[in-house]
Amino acid sequence: MREKRYNAIITGVGMYVPEKIYDNAYFEKIVDTNDEWIRTRTGIKERRILDKGGTSVLATKAAEDLLKSKNMSADEIDVIIVATVTPDMFFPATACLVQENIGAVNAWGFDLSAACSGFLFAFQTGCSLVESGDYKKVMVIGADKMSSIVDYTDRNNCILFGDAGAAVLIEPTEDKNYGLQDSLLRVDGSGKDVLNMKGGGSLNPPTHETVNNNMHVLFQEGKAVFKVAVKGMADISYDLMKKNNLTGDDIAYLVPHQANLRIIGATAERMGISQDKVMINIDRYGNTTAATIPSCLAEYYRAGKVKKGDKIILSAFGAGFTWGASYLVWSMD
Ligand code: COA
Repeated sequence: MREKRYNAIITGVGMYVPEKIYDNAYFEKIVDTNDEWIRTRTGIKERRILDKGGTSVLATKAAEDLLKSKNMSADEIDVIIVATVTPDMFFPATACLVQENIGAVNAWGFDLSAACSGFLFAFQTGCSLVESGDYKKVMVIGADKMSSIVDYTDRNNCILFGDAGAAVLIEPTEDKNYGLQDSLLRVDGSGKDVLNMKGGGSLNPPTHETVNNNMHVLFQEGKAVFKVAVKGMADISYDLMKKNNLTGDDIAYLVPHQANLRIIGATAERMGISQDKVMINIDRYGNTTAATIPSCLAEYYRAGKVKKGDKIILSAFGAGFTWGASYLVWSMD
């Protein structure tokens, strides 16, 4: 491992989910599905839906929640990174909208697009900025309004996703025992054909034809993605543990991307981690893309379940393909 000037630690968490709920019974009314199928195949019982506004609403409210919980002023923030695949607009970046909303007058920032691995990649990026010594307070937000790109006539996919935003604050410490210890991150563009949104970009700019051909919604071949996701997430998490001489017993929590409870179960099993040490909120929120990992961290920390010194593995897989795992030691009391 290379020598770092500082270690990057998480010093705050925040999250937001909208009030409106789509439970499984709702989907029974709009597509040919049933509660039992959804629960047993995915682990999802309900998801949250944002009616008004774009992803910046979710991201802003998560950021405000974090600031409030730390009693901290937004002008202290140096950098805002928003991981999202559902930005309010192509440009300006959602990070700019959040900056204005919260009044982070001294910050710069940008959006990062890595789908379900978005938070993991943004977290690594934020940590690297802090480790360099150049920045002291980096806010990393994962937020997605998935309901804006879901086709609610497609039963294979519409039941999977929900809307949420969640944030962490990253700061430096000289104590190398805490914070981000190591990561393994990967992309493989050969996965582009099985999980994508074809319309709206420079390849297929919006036209009547792209709208008629339903190209502005999430497309996924679920079974194909499922297979590579199980292997990708499990293998990289296992490799990261091996690389750092960790066994399942050493780990306090696995924080997996919440795409499907069966993918999560397979990952935990491969790592030798018992199910009680796996953070889960897919049952209540579904797959919220970039918000899954930070919302789990926020909920479990606030419930008093995460302690200083806990060894934690974050793990994700998503469109691209993108995937990876990060190993950190929790530093907050
Ligand atoms: N309700 C009822 N039946 C459904 C259904 C629904 N909502 N969606 C699909 N089915 C049907 C299928 O049409 C299929 O029927 P058939 O056998 O007659 O063709 C059957 O259920 C089984 O479908 P299959 O695709 O084999 O199910 P699965 O076990 O692979 O589960 C997913 C489907 C989507 C839940 C699963 O593949 C998955 O989670 N994939 C990864 C998803 C993901 O979240 N990726 C995001 C980034 S990682």
